[in-house]
Amino acid sequence: METILLTGSTGILGREILYQLLKEMMSGKAMHLLLPVRSLPDKSALDRLLEVLNAPDKPHYLSAYPSEQFLTGIEVIDTDLAVHDPHAISQIKKYKNIYLIHNASNTNLYYDNKALLEVYENNYLATLRLLEQLTGHIRKFIFISTAYCTGLLKGLVKNEYHDFDEAGRLYPMGLHKQQRNHYEYYKLLTEHEIIHYCNKKGISWQILRPSMIGGRLLDAPLYRIARYNVFYLMGICLYKWRMESPDQTSPHIRIFANPDMPLNIVPVDYLAAAIVHLRTDDDVTEANTVSSKGIPLHYGLSVLIHPWDISFDITREIPTDPNHLETFFYSKIGAWMAEYLQLPVHEFDTSLLRQKIAHIPEPDMIASFAALYDYAVKSEFGRVKNPV
Ligand SMILES: NC(=O)c1ccc[n+]([C@@H]2O[C@H](COP(=O)([O-])OP(=O)(O)OC[C@H]3O[C@@H](n4cnc5c(N)ncnc54)[C@H](OP(=O)(O)O)[C@@H]3O)[C@@H](O)[C@H]2O)c1
Repeated sequence: METILLTGSTGILGREILYQLLKEMMSGKAMHLLLPVRSLPDKSALDRLLEVLNAPDKPHYLSAYPSEQFLTGIEVIDTDLAVHDPHAISQIKKYKNIYLIHNASNTNLYYDNKALLEVYENNYLATLRLLEQLTGHIRKFIFISTAYCTGLLKGLVKNEYHDFDEAGRLYPMGLHKQQRNHYEYYKLLTEHEIIHYCNKKGISWQILRPSMIGGRLLDAPLYRIARYNVFYLMGICLYKWRMESPDQTSPHIRIFANPDMPLNIVPVDYLAAAIVHLRTDDDVTEANTVSSKGIPLHYGLSVLIHPWDISFDITREIPTDPNHLETFFYSKIGAWMAEYLQLPVHEFDTSLLRQKIAHIPEPDMIASFAALYDYAVKSEFGRVKNPV
């Protein structure tokens, strides 16, 4: 019987990982799932999990099974990972040899002190506490990080973000990294501390780094995603502007970006399938879990902006004479997004990933991007269920 602890199972990626694990369980794999979920003032942890298990757009491969059947292999642990919770830890410590997939995270990309405190406490401290408190019970610590945490992405981005000497000792983290925000900085520092701690204690570790997460492209119903985040936020911002400013005619926006950089978007189901498969592969320590090819920026922006009849061009600086739309865009998301849109030309090395998951077909994100985004627009980014 394999015991797996998965954090963040109510989120975008975590629920898809959960669905993939349940698929394995339903096909006969002996598995016990420990799911830490935090209750809300008006909703228990179990009720929150049931919402995920009964979600109308969960993958069709699970439709044949009632949620009671899933629950027989699941133990929900009501806990907030950012808070020291000895009761939750003792519940987990009943098990040994746990594959711990630590996916929960705060994804605040802002630069202010609120973001700093959130990522420090919720991501950095909470991760290290979980690892330390469960030492002796972990078979492998799998950390879901981000492909962007190394800061400057340029040329072919290799899987290894950390340096080791010839004896396999981890070098201390230097000052050469160029993170864009507290979230990235603490992701990289957390990775570093995990490797350091696990090597010292003889615990297996694995660090998997997704790029921007998009909707499903492998498993029906396609294009679904639990929440529209990251690149979808550009569409949400333009949609809101359109709603608030219906009388603005012939709008134009200058997007501050490097026109030659690609947008790497990975489908959530492909990513989750990769994570679930890689968990038992002890040869993989660090891996880019991203799409093999990025979407050319001009094409990507034309898809993202097209639905609102807005013309655009790409500029090499934030406009100093912003129009109505640009003022709205740059005050909401444009400033932090610009940090990601002006990266040097880069692609990720995915040869290791493809070799390890050769049996999982890689969806063609470039060919599917317009349809994927069209679904999000038609669903008004989650407000309309089942748009036609
Ligand atoms: N989204 C992307 O494009 C992207 C790109 C690269 C990497 N990643 C990484 O992928 C992972 C998943 O991201 P996501 O987009 O799926 O995030 P998400 O939708 O915001 O989900 C985050 C999950 O973590 C849980 N969580 C956060 N803090 C917690 C706490 N203190 N205690 C208990 N649970 C907590 C959340 O629970 P609640 O539901 O209770 O809030 C939720 O289930 C993260 O590690 C993220 O850094 C994401």
